[in-house]
Amino acid sequence: MSNSLILKAKDIDKAYQTVKNIRLEILKSVSIDIEENKISVIIGSSGAGKSTLLHILGGLDKPDSGEVIFNDTNIHHLSDDKLARFRNINIGFVFQFHHLLPEFTALENIMIPLMINGISEKKSQERANELLIETGLSERANHKPAELSGGEQQRVAVARALANDPQLILADEPTGNLDSVNSVILQDLFKNLKNKLNKTFVIVTHNQELISLADNLYEMKDGMIHKK
Ligand SMILES: Nc1ncnc2c1ncn2[C@@H]1O[C@H](COP(=O)(O)OP(=O)(O)O)[C@@H](O)[C@H]1O
Ligand SMILES: [Mg+2]
Repeated sequence: MSNSLILKAKDIDKAYQTVKNIRLEILKSVSIDIEENKISVIIGSSGAGKSTLLHILGGLDKPDSGEVIFNDTNIHHLSDDKLARFRNINIGFVFQFHHLLPEFTALENIMIPLMINGISEKKSQERANELLIETGLSERANHKPAELSGGEQQRVAVARALANDPQLILADEPTGNLDSVNSVILQDLFKNLKNKLNKTFVIVTHNQELISLADNLYEMKDGMIHKK
């Protein structure tokens, strides 16, 4: 029996024009099918185009040509407003730098995407507390980002990405700023979330250690992608 796909990207092209008017082809007809409830890892050296691809998969950036289908939605055909709303509900993002808001606590950082989504403050707080438990951070609810370790900050970022219960989580070098102990904790968290909450992950990284997380492994090189 074949596994179901959550996201299909087809023939994605992306080029940048440099100041000297040189055309840099970053993605060359990249196609990838993302299987539901799996961890797909895309490995590649710096400059390979991993972040560019991830941003296009998640609707943060537009391809020059090609399409991205999330379940049945062609995301780059949505208006900017609809796409922003679609992302907030369906896709969670985790970046190398946590991007938490410094003046808010861990709890409040997780509540923000819920409240943007129109959930009441009380319900948002309940949900954020659940997620703090899920990510092993219930003792840190009222800490601001500066009062958390790097590993804890990144787990709050994961909890925030999960706030609206998206099916898909896209992570760009999520362990890039972590020591090896915290990197392993984060990898275990991803595996648990996949198994327990049926989440789908796409992780792009240059870190070879993350290969062991992959149900499906890809390599990006020279703007092209190959399944390994
Ligand atoms: N806005 C931009 N304008 C011009 N070049 C860019 C821009 N964004 C990325 N690039 C170039 O595209 C290439 C791929 O970048 P990126 O997707 O960030 O690679 P990776 O994440 O694999 O390190 C790099 O050579 C980078 O310099
Ligand atoms: Mg990158």
